[in-house]
Amino acid sequence: MSKNLFIKTYGCQMNVYDSARMADVLAPLGFTPVDAPDDADMVILNTCHIREKASEKVFSELGRLRRIKESRRAGGTDMILAVAGCVAQAEGALIVERAPYVDVVLGPQTYHRLPEMIARVARSQGAEGNRLLETDFPPEPKFDHLPQPAASGVSVFLTVQEGCDKFCTFCVVPYTRGAEYSRPAAAILEEARRLAETGAREITLLGQTVNAYRGEGRDGPWGLGRLIRALAGIEGIERIRYTTSHPRDVDDDLIAAHRDLPQLMPLLHLPVQSGSDRILAAMNRGHTADDYRRLVVRLRKARPALALSSDFIVGFPGETEEDFAATMNLVHETGFVQAYSFKYSPRPGTPAAADPDQVPEEIKSRRLAALQDLLTAQQRAFNEACVGRELPVLIEGRGRFPGQMAGRSPYLQPVTVRMDEDAVGRILNLRILEARPNSLSGEGTDSAGPEYGTCGCGGSCRSAEGGQG
Ligand code: 5AD
Ligand code: SF4
Repeated sequence: MSKNLFIKTYGCQMNVYDSARMADVLAPLGFTPVDAPDDADMVILNTCHIREKASEKVFSELGRLRRIKESRRAGGTDMILAVAGCVAQAEGALIVERAPYVDVVLGPQTYHRLPEMIARVARSQGAEGNRLLETDFPPEPKFDHLPQPAASGVSVFLTVQEGCDKFCTFCVVPYTRGAEYSRPAAAILEEARRLAETGAREITLLGQTVNAYRGEGRDGPWGLGRLIRALAGIEGIERIRYTTSHPRDVDDDLIAAHRDLPQLMPLLHLPVQSGSDRILAAMNRGHTADDYRRLVVRLRKARPALALSSDFIVGFPGETEEDFAATMNLVHETGFVQAYSFKYSPRPGTPAAADPDQVPEEIKSRRLAALQDLLTAQQRAFNEACVGRELPVLIEGRGRFPGQMAGRSPYLQPVTVRMDEDAVGRILNLRILEARPNSLSGEGTDSAGPEYGTCGCGGSCRSAEGGQG
């Protein structure tokens, strides 16, 4: 009998990937994904613990789901309620205590055990006090026990690495996701081939510190550069991206991959967090602001079209006006086409949370607003500089309006184009006509189509190379 499964995903792309894998694990048990919790036989909240608000949202969502669960029970049906992800890992015991109507609490490393957990819940027939808490780091790697992804879209995620050994002093990830683990290269290549066969044209490699990738290869360990080279050889894979990278793990081979592989898209998400050496040291980032600047110079030399995206934290404990000015300075000098910026949020159990020198909330808010103004202005200037240029756009689906298709530029900008033909999965050369704050619109051009260029963009990436990066 078919059962409805609703998964709500919070946080990073790794969680998006994990949610899809959980749906794959549950498909053989008859669970079909649905878009709302109301008629769901099972609801999974795949949670994020990176900042404070994220876990608060989970508890308020649980309150709503409790009411749905109770009204289903009153009507004679049940709903299995599961909390997965990093809040489950970090605060599993608290969830069991505060929300006893939750049936299963499972950490990110135990998704492959979901069917077994559901069977146990079914046996306990919903009796409270039988809550399942699975937050160990099991000895068997979950990837060996997860089914291959079922269907794929044009642009897909593929987890290659998980966990983190860096222990930045603000971050919960090393505690919630555990130690660095890299999947063997052969397993990744096999998954990528299957994704390409089912229509994927763009693959985003995921990992908490993805460029710390060191997976077992045919001839010893492979780094990320080597892995990307092998992926670029797979028929059908026209675009490759990776996220999130750490400046300390950008090695020569990865820089060479940016130089040599047109499939490797010219947008790099390289979080710097702060422009102050003092704060970077207190964060345990393992590099200085100048190290970051030098790295950017090397990357841009290898790939002149390269554009950068980053993450920033303002109001880290002890951050002075001078430290903040150093961050603004780095942003001015470097230029980012996209960025995520946050107020520092003390996370329980992390070293920085215990620092007595916390920055007052009003100061954090003021700094965040100033930084975001600058970053938004840079993003807008980049989008505006795209007007008149030709960009290869991977069409991912129909636009919001009839007669419109929508896709993404190499820089991940959403681009719409008026056309009736269903061009999903094709890379079209579009001349950019208009830039809005978060998207572009373009028109088709007569320039060479995908079949002429080595990279499938018909050589238009050369026009991108000449542009702003
Ligand atoms: N407070 C604020 N931002 C944080 N991030 C991670 N931990 C915290 C925290 N405690 C941000 C970092 C990281 C991104 C994913 O989230 O900028 O790169
Ligand atoms: Fe967190 Fe730092 Fe690891 Fe990134 S590198 S996941 S910020 S500890």
